Amino acid sequence: MINILITGANGQLGSELKSIFKNGTLKFNKPINYIFTDIDTLDISNSVILNKFFQDHSFDYVINCAAYTNVDLAEKEKEKAYNVNATCVKNIVESIKDQNTKFIHISTDYVFDGNSHIPYTEDMQTNPQSVYGSSKLDGEKYALESENAIVIRTSWLYSSFGKNFAKSIHKLCKEKESLNVVFDQVGTPTYAYDLANAILQIVKQSIAENTFLPGIYHFSNEGVCSWYDFAKIIANKANSKCNINPIESKDYPTTVKRPFYSVLNKNKIKSTYNIKIPHWQDSLNKFFKAL
Ligand SMILES: NC(=O)c1ccc[n+]([C@@H]2O[C@H](COP(=O)([O-])OP(=O)(O)OC[C@H]3O[C@@H](n4cnc5c(N)ncnc54)[C@H](OP(=O)(O)O)[C@@H]3O)[C@@H](O)[C@H]2O)c1
Repeated sequence: MINILITGANGQLGSELKSIFKNGTLKFNKPINYIFTDIDTLDISNSVILNKFFQDHSFDYVINCAAYTNVDLAEKEKEKAYNVNATCVKNIVESIKDQNTKFIHISTDYVFDGNSHIPYTEDMQTNPQSVYGSSKLDGEKYALESENAIVIRTSWLYSSFGKNFAKSIHKLCKEKESLNVVFDQVGTPTYAYDLANAILQIVKQSIAENTFLPGIYHFSNEGVCSWYDFAKIIANKANSKCNINPIESKDYPTTVKRPFYSVLNKNKIKSTYNIKIPHWQDSLNKFFKAL
């Protein structure tokens, strides 16, 4: 029996993992016992509860989807963001270090400054521009203190679960005649279902072939677009007549400046784990079916 813990399981990514496990669409060659927790059942920021939890349970894999993800609010709630995104990761790693547990942790394109003109590889210089990005970078460092940890950086995550840009635009384009969306920030959307599948492919191969290669990996869908392109396609697919207008970031001020360029290079995860990544527009079609 393989025991897997998924923390932050009520979020976008955690919910996709849950639905894949529950649907039984991915077959493993050993029986799997999975436990899904979120803040109500395992608050990872409570070190006493966390230590007790890992004394009472041991896992072959821990997939940490729990995070503080409110990028703008993190500037005000700095301590909370660092606690959940960094200190808690350290505590998890320390709690599982004697159990030979394999740890999969999720990080973000916000560890980069967005000034690149070529897709970011895993070894490129990090330079976070926000509390959220810095707290996630610290979390990566703590995760990688374990010899048994994989960190997956992703970008522009969306899902039929939870709140995200794709769902907001889908709703707003039915209610409004026009929407202004920035066209000078470029990246790649990631359908959380595809990321969940990639994580489970890694787990599956690790169980079947004993291959778990620690380190940092990048994952998003294939292709490149601006938020404007993304919104325009969402509105088209929703058969909306709403006008999507391209605007510059300077005309859409936010507390945290968003990276202008956050395309991730996925060659490492594709070649190491033979993962086939769908184009973002194909995944958007799947998202619309799942909505
Ligand atoms: N969303 C994006 O665009 C994006 C982009 C790049 C990378 N990522 C990374 O991808 C990962 C998954 O993101 P996501 O969008 O699925 O996040 P999400 O939807 O915000 O889910 C995170 C989950 O963690 C829970 N959580 C927060 N504090 C916790 C605590 N102390 N103990 C246990 N659970 C706690 C949250 O509960 P509450 O909702 O109650 O707080 C939520 O259910 C994160 O590591 C994130 O940093 C996200």
